[in-house]
Amino acid sequence: MKKINSKELRSLYLNFFNEKGHAIIRSASLIPENDPTVLFTTAGMHPLTPYLLGQKHPAGNRLTDVQKCVRTGDIDEVGDASHCTFFEMLGNWSLGDYFKKEAITWSFEFLTSEKYLNIPVERLAVSVFAGDEDAPRDDESAQIWMSCGLKPEQIYYLPKKNNWWGPAGVTGPCGPDTEMFFDTGKPACGDNCGPQCDCGKYLEIWNDVFMQYNKKEDGTFEPLKQKNVDTGMGLERTVCVINGLKSVYETDVFAGAIECIENLSGKKYGESDDVTKAMRIIADHVRTATFMLGDQIGVTPSNVDQGYVLRRLIRRAIRFMRQLGIQKGEMVKLAMHYVDFYQEVYTELVDNRQKIHDELNKEEDKFSKALDQGIKEFERVVARLNGTVIDGQTAFRLYDTFGFPIEMTTEFAAEKGLTVDIEGFQAKFAEHQKKSQLGSEQRFKGGLADHSEKTTKLHTATHLLQAALRKVLGDEVAQKGSNITEERLRFDFSFSRPMTKEEVAEAQRLVNEAIQAKMPISCAEMTVEQAKEQGAIGLFGDKYGEIVKVYTMGDFSKEICGGPHAENTGDLGTFVITKEQSSSSGVRRIKAELR
Ligand code: ALA
Repeated sequence: MKKINSKELRSLYLNFFNEKGHAIIRSASLIPENDPTVLFTTAGMHPLTPYLLGQKHPAGNRLTDVQKCVRTGDIDEVGDASHCTFFEMLGNWSLGDYFKKEAITWSFEFLTSEKYLNIPVERLAVSVFAGDEDAPRDDESAQIWMSCGLKPEQIYYLPKKNNWWGPAGVTGPCGPDTEMFFDTGKPACGDNCGPQCDCGKYLEIWNDVFMQYNKKEDGTFEPLKQKNVDTGMGLERTVCVINGLKSVYETDVFAGAIECIENLSGKKYGESDDVTKAMRIIADHVRTATFMLGDQIGVTPSNVDQGYVLRRLIRRAIRFMRQLGIQKGEMVKLAMHYVDFYQEVYTELVDNRQKIHDELNKEEDKFSKALDQGIKEFERVVARLNGTVIDGQTAFRLYDTFGFPIEMTTEFAAEKGLTVDIEGFQAKFAEHQKKSQLGSEQRFKGGLADHSEKTTKLHTATHLLQAALRKVLGDEVAQKGSNITEERLRFDFSFSRPMTKEEVAEAQRLVNEAIQAKMPISCAEMTVEQAKEQGAIGLFGDKYGEIVKVYTMGDFSKEICGGPHAENTGDLGTFVITKEQSSSSGVRRIKAELR
């Protein structure tokens, strides 16, 4: 096997697929643009969903990339040998082009060829779909693996639970897959030992998904117009496996970071289990936070959605830094190490260096004092406690007053052999949300990451822009995506050709006219059907009879939306379109600012 580092694996992979006719595309943002059901991009295919469903990709129908991904479902597992909240996924795609034969043959070549990973064939194991009522047993893939040289005993037939991938959100493209494993050579743990087993004999390195179904909201699968291939190889994990290392934290990806944490703490990785675990958590969480802050779209810490996940990660990292004796203000050093380490691959980190620096320091300032007081309060709670359960009210107070994410309270509790009444906490949390009238609307579909005054205004301006575009270009215009930062709005909409200069100028003029008319913005609740009847535009994907909010701005705009809005269009300032460009086939993109 080849000893290769992360940089080498990245270029080896991309060049291999480039030679097989795949265009190398840039990693998309960590913030999904067209899927309100998930907070982060969780797989390489995620940003490619429209193309897997049949839209034409501008770079062609064979693509390859390395995609930034965040999965926070296993956040509590971070600290063990393999879990990371951020990781890079190498992938190659066929958008209705090649299918099983090429995908498997190329996977085999990359894994076993001397020029590439050079894994001995006998150290591979693969799984294929065993078949059920939704799709047949995948004998075809098994045949192809055998024609590559795998023996029947290296091929495992597994059910949907193991060998079906996707969709990334609630609905979307998915299909049976064939997964590739490195056989460590450890003895089997029993008669049923196989790739599905987590005894450590088999380590997954790659997954080829044959995406030929679309999962619908009612849970059924419909065949897609085109048969796609979607593959995913975890970069960190593969580097770990092929170098025979025990943990991803021992790969070159983390070497510099661990060294940085050792220098800051004066402790050594491996000196005790607690120190190792704390160092891994810090290395992981600060890396993820750096990528979230330094993303091309990006988030900042807040109490909702992506911003809250970021806040949790930063706060958890701070807690473990304290445990290792690392002082306040040092976290940015580790973040800057990551910016340098990844600067060639992810230039957006360099562009956002200052933002990463400032936001981390700000969040650390905010949390540090509360953390000390919160720990004292926690000790008092424990001293007074009758029994072994911390009640929901107390957990909520720790959250509300001291900024303790619930997971942190649970961790502190576990260290003392106690548990937390999570349901009680959630009930208090919901009660509080109702009171502060944020409620379920927090996750509204405007693509807005946090709700500052500036972003609220930009979001309001997005409504005016969509209405103006429909007046200038006609009803073909419908929202395809929206993204808002403190500085600008970005609006993607369906339209088949570039806008003329005159059309751009006219749309801008209409928005400013609506602003100057100082129209009050009103909100009414009604069913989706009533909203449609009133001519409201917006995302109508909701369930029959569901109550939605409709925002009206004079007779200019009427749109279904959940998000916060300015009270009067007159508050918005001057609207300036800074760019009109292509976003993808049949979709245009406008960037605009309020000055
Ligand atoms: N989308 C597939 C995965 O994430 C390749 O494993």
